[in-house]
Amino acid sequence: MSRLISPSILSANFNNLGRDIEMINLSEADWIHFDVMDGVFVPNISFGLPVIQHVKKVATKPLDVHLMIVNPDHFIKPFRDSGADILTVHYEACTHLHRTIGAIHQEGMKAGVCLNPHTPVLLLEDIINDLDLVLLMSVNPGFGGQKFILNTYQKVMRLKRLIIEKQANTLIEIDGGVNFETGKLLFESGADVLVAGSFVFGSNDPLRTIKDLKMV
Ligand code: DX5
Ligand code: ZN
Repeated sequence: MSRLISPSILSANFNNLGRDIEMINLSEADWIHFDVMDGVFVPNISFGLPVIQHVKKVATKPLDVHLMIVNPDHFIKPFRDSGADILTVHYEACTHLHRTIGAIHQEGMKAGVCLNPHTPVLLLEDIINDLDLVLLMSVNPGFGGQKFILNTYQKVMRLKRLIIEKQANTLIEIDGGVNFETGKLLFESGADVLVAGSFVFGSNDPLRTIKDLKMV
């Protein structure tokens, strides 16, 4: 079991993004999480390829890109070219998920699938062995700073059982409403990676918050 932290720059200070990336470089964070939103798949628009390209030039940690967009297949190569190391697509946005995962691997990236809060983990049983990670949404995607959905703990445990049963080598990542309280229970339930946006960037000492979140 790993305990990785992926701070989401959705809650960073965009007037001073370089400073926040430098903070992540210096911290004990393992990845940097990017929330790409198209205003169609989710009711919000965030940022896209140019931001990732610029951050790539200064970041010392792998870029963990979460695509909340329709037709992600059209953008696999552009995100690889911008510097994504891990590319995660939504189950609900992919009609031919197996093909999409194959295309992400073909471009040399790690591949993840994200499930919305209402999507059961058992739908992944025939693809779990092809996935480097599963990202479980613990809020409805689209916005930072929302309340954690408690059913997520059950989903983590069910997903962990599926991974063990299938002898898969898949990480479990959780996204939304992560703080010390939810983070502790998530790690205990079997999560490997925690995304944290507002909890890290809204804290007085983000470096310390990242360090403490790892050790909850
Ligand atoms: C929501 C995003 C999350 C978000 C998490 O659509 O996928 O990554 O930034 O934000 P917090 O940690 O503030 O709930
Ligand atoms: Zn995310």
